[in-house]
Amino acid sequence: MIQDEILKLKKEKNAVILAHYYQDKEVQDIADYVGDSLALSKIAATTDADLIVFCGVNFMAETAKILSPEKKVILPVKEALCPMAMMITKKKLKRYKEANPDRVVICYVNSYADVKALSDVCVTSSNAEKIIMSYKDRKMLYIPDKNLGTYLADKYNLDIDVWPGFCCIHNNLTVDDVLALKEQHPSALLLIHPESPLAVLKMADYVGSTKGILDYATASEHEEFIIGTEDGILHPLQKNNPNKKFYILSSGLRCYDMKLTKIEDVLYALQNETYEITVDPKTLEGAKKALDKMMEMS
Ligand code: 13P
Ligand code: SF4
Repeated sequence: MIQDEILKLKKEKNAVILAHYYQDKEVQDIADYVGDSLALSKIAATTDADLIVFCGVNFMAETAKILSPEKKVILPVKEALCPMAMMITKKKLKRYKEANPDRVVICYVNSYADVKALSDVCVTSSNAEKIIMSYKDRKMLYIPDKNLGTYLADKYNLDIDVWPGFCCIHNNLTVDDVLALKEQHPSALLLIHPESPLAVLKMADYVGSTKGILDYATASEHEEFIIGTEDGILHPLQKNNPNKKFYILSSGLRCYDMKLTKIEDVLYALQNETYEITVDPKTLEGAKKALDKMMEMS
């Protein structure tokens, strides 16, 4: 069986398999750790494996490489890219900083190393609120996700300039999606990822990262939940809560980049040690400062 071959190779090569919650369930089930971007970054920073197989999108594998530069990090599918991470460039950020030298640059991990290297601190959806609140009296720029930045600026009345990037999946959620599902399931609680538009987030019972949503639903005494994040999360939600009911907020909540990785790709990646992530040393050093600061603050 393909799973046995993966386990055998993993042992031989002292490899660790990390998978984001948005991966296919077969990929989640073969992984050593399944988590959100913060949890997986923490594991990448501390693992004693020689080889990290990162099942996710390329900015996540790149983050693992920056946090563990001495390790070999591979991404099973080279084309697994996050469109949001491509919505900001180093050149544009440099220009912005020159015009706005007083703003602290807070960078969502959904970005590339050269952009992180120009930032003061990185955040993920799990720790953005805490880290941003520690700069609450400063002027900030939040890059590249306009929705998460707008949500926190609105919630705490903060001076945050937001970059106009977005997640092509969460950004499509609408108030009508919520009204339709609420009508079908009136007693269900609404749990939503903060990459969604503000009008939708304002209707939520809980706003949080993928891990936050999983923990909230697991701890809750409620029995029904409408889930406003990528549908890969349904697998751990159902696994942890077999007696609860989960309804996905929209059939559009499927990240095709995340779903590119199949279990066969994980085996191929382990056999051939592909596709290796590399970051030039100077950029890595700069990006690591912003990521290390995030780790200290979260
Ligand atoms: P998390 O930080 O919740 O893992 O989110 C990452 C992501 O890409 C969400 O779209
Ligand atoms: Fe990027 Fe959105 Fe896919 Fe997350 S769900 S990887 S933000 S496109």
